[in-house]
Amino acid sequence: MNRVEGSSVYIGRVAELLPQLLTARRVIVITDSNVDRCHPSLISSYEHIVIGLGEQAKSFATLERVYTQLMDMYADRSTFILGIGGGVVTDITGFVATTYMRGVDFGFIPTTLLSQVDASVGGKNGVNVGGYKNMVGTFSQPQFVICDTTLLSTLPDREFRAGIAEIIKAAIIADSSLFAQLESTDFTQLRSNTSLLASVVEAALKVKIAIVSADEREKGLRRVLNLGHTIGHAIEKSSRVYNHGEAVAAGICCVADVAEKKAQLAAQDAERIRALCAHYDLNSQLPVPITQLLKAIRTDKKREGDSLHLIVPIAIGEVRDERLTFSEVEQLFAEN
Ligand code: GLY
Repeated sequence: MNRVEGSSVYIGRVAELLPQLLTARRVIVITDSNVDRCHPSLISSYEHIVIGLGEQAKSFATLERVYTQLMDMYADRSTFILGIGGGVVTDITGFVATTYMRGVDFGFIPTTLLSQVDASVGGKNGVNVGGYKNMVGTFSQPQFVICDTTLLSTLPDREFRAGIAEIIKAAIIADSSLFAQLESTDFTQLRSNTSLLASVVEAALKVKIAIVSADEREKGLRRVLNLGHTIGHAIEKSSRVYNHGEAVAAGICCVADVAEKKAQLAAQDAERIRALCAHYDLNSQLPVPITQLLKAIRTDKKREGDSLHLIVPIAIGEVRDERLTFSEVEQLFAEN
Protein backbone atom coordinates (compact mmCIF):
# COMPACT_ATOMS: atom_id res chain seq x y z
CA MET A 1 0.00 0.00 0.00
CA ASN A 2 1.39 3.39 -0.93
CA ARG A 3 0.81 5.38 2.22
CA VAL A 4 2.07 8.96 2.33
CA GLU A 5 4.57 8.97 5.19
CA GLY A 6 3.31 10.24 8.51
CA SER A 7 -0.34 10.23 7.47
CA SER A 8 -3.42 8.14 6.80
CA VAL A 9 -3.46 9.20 3.16
CA TYR A 10 -3.05 6.44 0.57
CA ILE A 11 -2.34 6.80 -3.13
CA GLY A 12 -3.52 3.99 -5.37
CA ARG A 13 -6.59 2.25 -6.73
CA VAL A 14 -9.78 2.33 -4.67
CA ALA A 15 -10.59 -1.24 -5.72
CA GLU A 16 -7.39 -2.47 -4.04
CA LEU A 17 -7.18 -0.14 -1.06
CA LEU A 18 -10.78 0.12 0.13
CA PRO A 19 -11.25 -3.57 1.01
CA GLN A 20 -8.06 -3.43 3.08
CA LEU A 21 -8.93 -0.21 4.88
CA LEU A 22 -12.65 -0.62 5.41
CA THR A 23 -13.32 -3.02 8.25
CA ALA A 24 -16.66 -1.71 9.62
CA ARG A 25 -19.72 -3.93 9.32
CA ARG A 26 -21.93 -1.08 8.18
CA VAL A 27 -20.89 1.73 5.85
CA ILE A 28 -22.98 4.70 4.77
CA VAL A 29 -21.67 6.81 1.90
CA ILE A 30 -22.23 10.57 1.64
CA THR A 31 -21.86 11.86 -1.89
CA ASP A 32 -23.38 14.30 -4.41
CA SER A 33 -25.41 13.73 -7.57
CA ASN A 34 -22.42 14.35 -9.91
CA VAL A 35 -20.35 11.64 -8.24
CA ASP A 36 -23.37 9.34 -8.15
CA ARG A 37 -23.68 9.80 -11.95
CA CYS A 38 -19.94 9.52 -12.79
CA HIS A 39 -19.01 6.61 -10.50
CA PRO A 40 -22.25 4.57 -10.17
CA SER A 41 -20.55 1.24 -9.41
CA LEU A 42 -18.57 2.79 -6.55
CA ILE A 43 -21.64 4.35 -4.94
CA SER A 44 -24.33 1.75 -5.60
CA SER A 45 -22.66 -0.96 -3.56
CA TYR A 46 -23.33 1.06 -0.38
CA GLU A 47 -26.31 2.61 1.35
CA HIS A 48 -25.89 6.27 0.50
CA ILE A 49 -27.03 9.82 1.10
CA VAL A 50 -26.84 12.33 -1.75
CA ILE A 51 -26.30 16.00 -0.89
CA GLY A 52 -26.69 19.10 -3.11
CA LEU A 53 -24.03 20.50 -5.43
CA GLY A 54 -21.76 23.47 -4.88
CA GLU A 55 -20.73 25.75 -2.04
CA GLN A 56 -24.37 26.51 -1.10
CA ALA A 57 -24.71 22.87 -0.01
CA LYS A 58 -22.20 23.54 2.80
CA SER A 59 -25.01 24.72 5.04
CA PHE A 60 -26.84 23.95 8.28
CA ALA A 61 -29.82 22.90 6.14
CA THR A 62 -27.72 20.15 4.54
CA LEU A 63 -26.41 19.05 7.94
CA GLU A 64 -29.93 18.74 9.31
CA ARG A 65 -31.06 16.70 6.29
CA VAL A 66 -28.07 14.35 6.59
CA TYR A 67 -28.47 13.87 10.37
CA THR A 68 -32.17 13.10 9.83
CA GLN A 69 -31.43 10.59 7.09
CA LEU A 70 -28.79 8.89 9.25
CA MET A 71 -31.36 8.60 12.05
CA ASP A 72 -33.98 7.27 9.62
CA MET A 73 -31.44 4.66 8.51
CA TYR A 74 -30.79 3.73 12.17
CA ALA A 75 -27.11 4.57 11.81
CA ASP A 76 -25.40 4.02 15.16
CA ARG A 77 -21.98 4.67 16.62
CA SER A 78 -20.49 1.64 14.91
CA THR A 79 -21.54 2.89 11.47
CA PHE A 80 -18.65 4.04 9.30
CA ILE A 81 -19.30 7.14 7.19
CA LEU A 82 -17.48 7.34 3.87
CA GLY A 83 -17.42 10.65 2.00
CA ILE A 84 -16.97 10.21 -1.75
CA GLY A 85 -16.73 13.46 -3.67
CA GLY A 86 -15.12 16.87 -3.83
CA GLY A 87 -14.37 19.35 -1.06
CA VAL A 88 -18.01 20.10 -0.26
CA VAL A 89 -18.79 16.41 0.28
CA THR A 90 -15.67 15.79 2.39
CA ASP A 91 -16.27 18.92 4.49
CA ILE A 92 -19.88 17.93 5.18
CA THR A 93 -18.93 14.30 5.80
CA GLY A 94 -16.16 15.22 8.22
CA PHE A 95 -18.45 17.54 10.17
CA VAL A 96 -21.38 15.11 10.24
CA ALA A 97 -19.20 12.16 11.28
CA THR A 98 -17.50 14.17 14.01
CA THR A 99 -20.82 15.29 15.51
CA TYR A 100 -23.39 12.56 14.76
CA MET A 101 -23.91 10.70 18.06
CA ARG A 102 -20.84 12.61 19.30
CA GLY A 103 -18.63 11.08 16.67
CA VAL A 104 -18.34 8.06 14.41
CA ASP A 105 -15.41 6.82 12.31
CA PHE A 106 -15.12 8.18 8.80
CA GLY A 107 -12.96 8.15 5.69
CA PHE A 108 -12.75 9.93 2.34
CA ILE A 109 -12.41 9.05 -1.30
CA PRO A 110 -11.82 12.44 -2.97
CA THR A 111 -12.98 12.55 -6.59
CA THR A 112 -11.64 15.93 -7.68
CA LEU A 113 -7.99 16.92 -8.06
CA LEU A 114 -8.55 19.82 -5.69
CA SER A 115 -9.93 17.59 -2.98
CA GLN A 116 -7.17 15.00 -3.49
CA VAL A 117 -4.36 17.51 -2.99
CA ASP A 118 -6.05 19.85 -0.53
CA ALA A 119 -9.65 19.68 0.68
CA SER A 120 -9.77 16.06 1.88
CA VAL A 121 -6.48 16.30 3.76
CA GLY A 122 -5.76 18.27 6.90
CA GLY A 123 -8.63 17.48 9.22
CA LYS A 124 -10.50 20.78 8.94
CA ASN A 125 -14.17 20.49 8.03
CA GLY A 126 -17.18 22.72 8.34
CA VAL A 127 -20.03 24.68 6.86
CA ASN A 128 -20.57 28.23 5.66
CA VAL A 129 -22.69 30.70 7.66
CA GLY A 130 -24.33 33.79 6.17
CA GLY A 131 -22.12 33.76 3.07
CA TYR A 132 -18.90 33.37 5.08
CA LYS A 133 -16.88 30.27 4.31
CA ASN A 134 -16.16 27.59 6.91
CA MET A 135 -17.26 29.65 9.90
CA VAL A 136 -18.38 26.59 11.88
CA GLY A 137 -16.49 23.33 11.90
CA THR A 138 -14.09 21.04 13.69
CA PHE A 139 -10.59 19.66 13.43
CA SER A 140 -10.94 15.93 13.09
CA GLN A 141 -8.86 13.41 11.15
CA PRO A 142 -10.41 10.69 8.99
CA GLN A 143 -9.33 7.04 9.40
CA PHE A 144 -8.11 7.13 5.82
CA VAL A 145 -8.10 9.14 2.61
CA ILE A 146 -7.70 7.26 -0.67
CA CYS A 147 -6.40 9.33 -3.58
CA ASP A 148 -7.05 7.39 -6.78
CA THR A 149 -6.00 9.47 -9.79
CA THR A 150 -7.91 7.18 -12.16
CA LEU A 151 -11.14 8.60 -10.66
CA LEU A 152 -10.23 11.99 -12.14
CA SER A 153 -10.73 10.96 -15.77
CA THR A 154 -14.35 12.14 -15.70
CA LEU A 155 -13.47 15.53 -14.21
CA PRO A 156 -14.13 18.56 -16.47
CA ASP A 157 -10.93 20.35 -17.59
CA ARG A 158 -11.83 23.45 -15.62
CA GLU A 159 -12.16 21.49 -12.37
CA PHE A 160 -8.88 19.73 -13.08
CA ARG A 161 -7.16 23.08 -13.64
CA ALA A 162 -8.49 24.30 -10.28
CA GLY A 163 -6.65 21.41 -8.62
CA ILE A 164 -3.43 22.31 -10.42
CA ALA A 165 -3.61 25.75 -8.78
CA GLU A 166 -3.39 24.12 -5.34
CA ILE A 167 -0.46 21.97 -6.53
CA ILE A 168 1.33 25.12 -7.75
CA LYS A 169 0.63 26.63 -4.33
CA ALA A 170 2.23 23.67 -2.53
CA ALA A 171 5.27 23.88 -4.80
CA ILE A 172 5.78 27.58 -4.13
CA ILE A 173 5.43 27.03 -0.38
CA ALA A 174 7.97 24.24 0.02
CA ASP A 175 8.95 22.19 -3.03
CA SER A 176 11.03 23.83 -5.74
CA SER A 177 11.54 20.43 -7.50
CA LEU A 178 7.77 20.01 -7.81
CA PHE A 179 7.62 23.54 -9.24
CA ALA A 180 10.28 22.61 -11.85
CA GLN A 181 8.43 19.37 -12.62
CA LEU A 182 5.24 21.35 -13.27
CA GLU A 183 7.20 23.68 -15.56
CA SER A 184 8.54 20.75 -17.56
CA THR A 185 5.21 18.99 -18.04
CA ASP A 186 1.85 20.33 -19.17
CA PHE A 187 -1.90 20.09 -18.75
CA THR A 188 -2.37 17.40 -21.42
CA GLN A 189 0.32 15.13 -19.98
CA LEU A 190 -1.03 15.50 -16.44
CA ARG A 191 -4.54 14.71 -17.66
CA SER A 192 -3.51 11.65 -19.62
CA ASN A 193 -0.73 10.08 -17.55
CA THR A 194 -2.22 8.83 -14.28
CA SER A 195 1.12 7.72 -12.81
CA LEU A 196 2.74 11.10 -13.56
CA LEU A 197 -0.31 12.70 -11.98
CA ALA A 198 -0.05 10.39 -8.95
CA SER A 199 3.58 11.46 -8.41
CA VAL A 200 2.63 15.13 -8.58
CA VAL A 201 -0.33 14.58 -6.23
CA GLU A 202 1.96 12.76 -3.80
CA ALA A 203 4.52 15.58 -3.83
CA ALA A 204 1.82 18.18 -3.14
CA LEU A 205 0.36 16.01 -0.37
CA LYS A 206 3.78 15.66 1.26
CA VAL A 207 4.03 19.45 1.51
CA LYS A 208 0.59 19.73 3.10
CA ILE A 209 0.97 16.74 5.41
CA ALA A 210 4.35 17.92 6.76
CA ILE A 211 2.88 21.34 7.57
CA VAL A 212 -0.35 19.98 9.09
CA SER A 213 1.59 17.45 11.20
CA ALA A 214 3.65 20.28 12.67
CA ASP A 215 0.65 22.53 13.37
CA GLU A 216 -2.64 20.66 13.14
CA ARG A 217 -4.71 23.40 14.82
CA GLU A 218 -3.36 26.27 12.76
CA LYS A 219 -1.64 28.13 15.56
CA GLY A 220 1.20 29.29 13.34
CA LEU A 221 3.03 27.38 10.61
CA ARG A 222 -0.14 25.99 9.01
CA ARG A 223 -1.11 29.49 7.94
CA VAL A 224 1.42 29.26 5.10
CA LEU A 225 -1.12 27.01 3.33
CA ASN A 226 -3.19 30.16 2.87
CA LEU A 227 -0.81 31.42 0.17
CA GLY A 228 -3.02 33.14 -2.42
CA HIS A 229 -6.13 32.64 -0.28
CA THR A 230 -6.50 36.15 1.21
CA ILE A 231 -7.06 37.59 -2.24
CA GLY A 232 -8.52 34.29 -3.50
CA HIS A 233 -11.33 34.21 -0.94
CA ALA A 234 -12.05 37.90 -1.58
CA ILE A 235 -12.36 37.12 -5.31
CA GLU A 236 -14.76 34.26 -4.59
CA LYS A 237 -16.82 36.52 -2.36
CA SER A 238 -16.91 39.47 -4.79
CA SER A 239 -17.40 37.72 -8.11
CA ARG A 240 -18.72 34.47 -9.53
CA VAL A 241 -16.21 34.50 -12.40
CA TYR A 242 -13.52 32.22 -10.94
CA ASN A 243 -13.79 28.94 -9.08
CA HIS A 244 -11.69 28.35 -5.93
CA GLY A 245 -8.51 27.16 -7.67
CA GLU A 246 -8.66 29.92 -10.29
CA ALA A 247 -9.19 32.53 -7.57
CA VAL A 248 -6.24 31.16 -5.58
CA ALA A 249 -3.99 31.28 -8.68
CA ALA A 250 -4.93 34.94 -9.26
CA GLY A 251 -4.30 35.57 -5.54
CA ILE A 252 -0.86 33.95 -5.73
CA CYS A 253 0.11 36.06 -8.76
CA CYS A 254 -1.14 39.18 -7.01
CA VAL A 255 1.02 38.61 -3.88
CA ALA A 256 3.97 37.61 -6.10
CA ASP A 257 3.63 40.98 -7.90
CA VAL A 258 3.59 42.79 -4.57
CA ALA A 259 6.55 40.79 -3.22
CA GLU A 260 8.51 41.56 -6.38
CA LYS A 261 7.77 45.29 -6.08
CA LYS A 262 8.93 45.20 -2.46
CA ALA A 263 12.10 43.33 -3.51
CA GLN A 264 11.14 40.39 -1.28
CA LEU A 265 10.95 38.09 -4.29
CA ALA A 266 13.47 38.09 -7.17
CA ALA A 267 12.00 39.32 -10.46
CA GLN A 268 12.83 36.04 -12.23
CA ASP A 269 11.02 34.02 -9.52
CA ALA A 270 7.94 36.26 -9.75
CA GLU A 271 8.03 35.78 -13.51
CA ARG A 272 8.31 31.99 -13.12
CA ILE A 273 5.21 32.02 -10.88
CA ARG A 274 3.19 34.08 -13.37
CA ALA A 275 4.47 31.97 -16.29
CA LEU A 276 3.60 28.68 -14.57
CA CYS A 277 0.04 29.84 -13.89
CA ALA A 278 -0.25 30.97 -17.51
CA HIS A 279 1.22 27.63 -18.69
CA TYR A 280 -1.79 25.93 -17.07
CA ASP A 281 -4.23 28.58 -18.37
CA LEU A 282 -4.75 29.96 -14.89
CA ASN A 283 -5.45 33.64 -15.21
CA SER A 284 -3.26 35.99 -13.18
CA GLN A 285 -5.68 38.90 -13.71
CA LEU A 286 -8.02 39.97 -10.93
CA PRO A 287 -11.65 39.70 -12.13
CA VAL A 288 -12.71 42.68 -9.96
CA PRO A 289 -10.84 45.87 -9.00
CA ILE A 290 -8.44 45.53 -6.09
CA THR A 291 -10.38 48.23 -4.18
CA GLN A 292 -13.43 45.94 -4.15
CA LEU A 293 -11.30 43.01 -3.01
CA LEU A 294 -9.79 45.07 -0.21
CA LYS A 295 -13.30 45.89 0.99
CA ALA A 296 -14.09 42.15 1.08
CA ILE A 297 -10.86 41.46 2.97
CA ARG A 298 -11.70 44.12 5.54
CA THR A 299 -15.06 42.50 6.26
CA ASP A 300 -13.55 39.00 6.44
CA LYS A 301 -15.03 37.48 9.59
CA LYS A 302 -11.83 35.49 10.17
CA ARG A 303 -9.63 38.56 10.60
CA GLU A 304 -7.57 38.98 13.78
CA GLY A 305 -8.61 42.36 15.17
CA ASP A 306 -7.46 45.01 12.72
CA SER A 307 -4.86 42.82 11.07
CA LEU A 308 -4.38 39.68 9.02
CA HIS A 309 -1.66 37.24 8.05
CA LEU A 310 -0.49 37.65 4.48
CA ILE A 311 1.59 34.77 3.11
CA VAL A 312 4.27 36.15 0.83
CA PRO A 313 6.49 34.10 -1.53
CA ILE A 314 10.15 34.99 -1.03
CA ALA A 315 11.59 32.31 -3.33
CA ILE A 316 10.32 29.28 -5.24
CA GLY A 317 9.88 26.86 -2.34
CA GLU A 318 9.83 29.43 0.45
CA VAL A 319 7.19 31.75 1.89
CA ARG A 320 6.95 34.17 4.78
CA ASP A 321 3.99 34.83 7.07
CA GLU A 322 3.60 38.59 7.55
CA ARG A 323 1.14 39.97 10.06
CA LEU A 324 -0.10 43.26 8.62
CA THR A 325 -2.75 45.78 9.58
CA PHE A 326 -5.54 46.42 7.09
CA SER A 327 -4.08 49.85 6.36
CA GLU A 328 -0.72 48.25 5.54
CA VAL A 329 -2.44 45.69 3.30
CA GLU A 330 -4.41 48.44 1.53
CA GLN A 331 -1.27 50.47 1.01
CA LEU A 332 0.62 47.44 -0.28
CA PHE A 333 -1.95 46.53 -2.90
CA ALA A 334 -2.92 50.08 -3.78
CA GLU A 335 0.69 50.85 -4.71
CA ASN A 336 0.83 47.74 -6.87
N1 GLY B 1 -10.03 20.11 4.90
C1 GLY B 1 -8.96 20.89 4.44
C2 GLY B 1 -7.91 21.13 5.46
O1 GLY B 1 -7.97 20.59 6.55
O2 GLY B 1 -7.00 21.88 5.20
